[in-house]
Amino acid sequence: MAATSPDLMSTIVSLCKRRGFIFQSSEIYGGLNSCWDYGPLGVELKRNVKEAWWRAMVTNRRDIVGIDASILMHPKVWEASGHRAGFSDPLVDCKQCKMRFRADHLDNIEKCPSCGGALTEIRKFNLMFKTFMGPVEDDSATVFMRPETAQGIFVNFLNVQQASRLKPPFGIAQIGKSFRNEITPGNFTYRTREFEQMEMEFFVPPADDRYWYDFWKETRRSWYIEYGIRPENLRLREHAPQELAHYAKGCADIEYLFPFGWSELEGIANRTDFDLKRHSEASGKSLAYFDNDSNRHYFPFVIEPAAGADRAALAFLTDAYDVDKEDNQRVILRLHPALAPIKVAVLPLVKKDGMPEKAENIYRDLLDHSITSFYDQTSAIGRRYARQDEAGTPFCVTVDTQTLQDDTVTIRDRDSREQYRVAATQIVGAITEKLSGKRQ
Ligand code: GAP
Repeated sequence: MAATSPDLMSTIVSLCKRRGFIFQSSEIYGGLNSCWDYGPLGVELKRNVKEAWWRAMVTNRRDIVGIDASILMHPKVWEASGHRAGFSDPLVDCKQCKMRFRADHLDNIEKCPSCGGALTEIRKFNLMFKTFMGPVEDDSATVFMRPETAQGIFVNFLNVQQASRLKPPFGIAQIGKSFRNEITPGNFTYRTREFEQMEMEFFVPPADDRYWYDFWKETRRSWYIEYGIRPENLRLREHAPQELAHYAKGCADIEYLFPFGWSELEGIANRTDFDLKRHSEASGKSLAYFDNDSNRHYFPFVIEPAAGADRAALAFLTDAYDVDKEDNQRVILRLHPALAPIKVAVLPLVKKDGMPEKAENIYRDLLDHSITSFYDQTSAIGRRYARQDEAGTPFCVTVDTQTLQDDTVTIRDRDSREQYRVAATQIVGAITEKLSGKRQ
């Protein structure tokens, strides 16, 4: 279903809490603004999103390798990258109601959109979180929580290139936490102050930048569709020159139609040779690549697809949300099987006649094959199916009377609701095959 209703957001927030996808951080203390905790189903969903990204970007490609850099980096990194001077948002306060806004999000920067009061002058507000390294809290001990994972890749460019013996075009990928002291966090997990990024820096000969920019825009758009997002809910928006970040020659956003409107899901930027050159100048250590073929050094250009794991998980959840109006407004999360937190629920039809024992064996076998599964023998079978539909579980295996006679079970498909019988000994194979397939 298309995600256009403002009510849909609150419905999803309450589903997330009720079913254990996402909770408010420190809820018992009244919550901490913009911080969220992933519960048992949410952590599986987000892990699956990150694994799907890593598979597509690293495991299945010969030209991309991964790293895991530290969150705290030398403070000079952020001077060289331009984040100390340029990574700020324009901030205004309402003199009357004291609400705070991003000036670039307002149509009228004279008047408070909430109470009509006068607004302060625009102030630049740096988004980096500061902390101190070691016991002394002075300027020389100040370090920053990284606001993007990308810089850990740039400063390691030559280490990785030489250790992996890769030649441009090649990429370095990383998944990890980033922090931004956002002025106006909100819309659930969409804009938070602590979030996870999935970034890849693709280093290319400068003359090939246009080709790879177009390549990554299309490749990344297709990735969301492959994992279930409806194409009509995605669009690519090229940035106008005044929107470009200080490092970018070109940038396009993959936008998703969230319940609160079209918003950025991922950015694909042409960062040119800005970062490698700036770090070379600032550190005095050249990050230029030596090209054996031409026998010269050069700075590759960088094409960067930068995604957010939290935003992607929210988009997949929203797009998967469906209500069966012909069946009691039943909620179905039509998540792609690869992203679904639980792959299989094993359900004995009744709690007697040896069915629980048989079901328990099947459940054990699925776990032994690392298939995330859930065992449930409580309540009527219809209610148990409904609970699994709401959690996004693509398959239910039911042990019934016939199982006791011929050792077959039913597999129920969440989306078609079709049920068919397979031999109990074939379940792992049948489920594995289904999980590896694409959504119809
Ligand atoms: N290295 C480039 C970079 O960081 P960005 O567009 O600022 O570019 C990339 O961030 C992605 O990170 C965004 O498309 C979004 O998915 C995610 N992201 C950025 N800020 C976020 C925030 N405050 N909360 C959640 N996700 C965020």
